[in-house]
Amino acid sequence: MAIGIKIAIDGPAAAGKSTIAKMTAEKLGYTYIDTGAMYRALTHKALSQSIDTTNGEELKSLLQETEIVLLPSKEGQAVIVDGMDVSEEIRSQQVTAHVSAVAIHTGVRELMVEKQRQLAEGMGVVMDGRDIGTAVLPNAELKIFMTASVEERAMRRHIENSRRGMISSLDNLKVEISERDRVDSEREVSPLRQAEDAVLIDTTSMSIEDVANQISELAEKRLAL
Ligand code: DC
Repeated sequence: MAIGIKIAIDGPAAAGKSTIAKMTAEKLGYTYIDTGAMYRALTHKALSQSIDTTNGEELKSLLQETEIVLLPSKEGQAVIVDGMDVSEEIRSQQVTAHVSAVAIHTGVRELMVEKQRQLAEGMGVVMDGRDIGTAVLPNAELKIFMTASVEERAMRRHIENSRRGMISSLDNLKVEISERDRVDSEREVSPLRQAEDAVLIDTTSMSIEDVANQISELAEKRLAL
């Protein structure tokens, strides 16, 4: 019996990838893997130890001695670093402001990709990030590139923040999201870009349900092949 397919969901910051990836994984009974959370986990640990985020070697050593575990939770995914639940902390503005700088380094990315491939081995997964279709799972049966206008993405993040009790400014969010997209797209190692065989979905005027349904239909088609 087939063990399930691999679904890669890539796209710019705050495009709604994790919400959709979670829903799709739940629907198919697959494992959801949030790779952004892994870069955030390393960033959080580096900041708490005052490690310079421009120092790729030090960050790589830190990652080598760090255990990152992703567990299913009520909210979708709990992130456990060296036995401590840091699911909330990794979403802080401080981590968000530094994570793209941490994700630039070749050594860090090589190790992360290795960990991510191990996590996906031998089962049906929905993995979201920036380089899943291009670098982590180039043989994924279904690749989605999800995007939306910066205005829409900032608005969604603003609403999500206020639900979490976090105060944010829409203008600041637009700047922060655009800057993160710029760094993620311009880096040398596996930059954010659409894989040639990825399906582009612009979610600007779509509801979450519409996007989830479209991806489920695509997944059903691939599963039927
Ligand atoms: O998806 P997110 O916003 O939680 O990701 C945080 C950052 O991590 C993102 O700005 C770039 C980096 N990232 C990456 O470089 N490659 C991935 N596969 C996932 C995230």
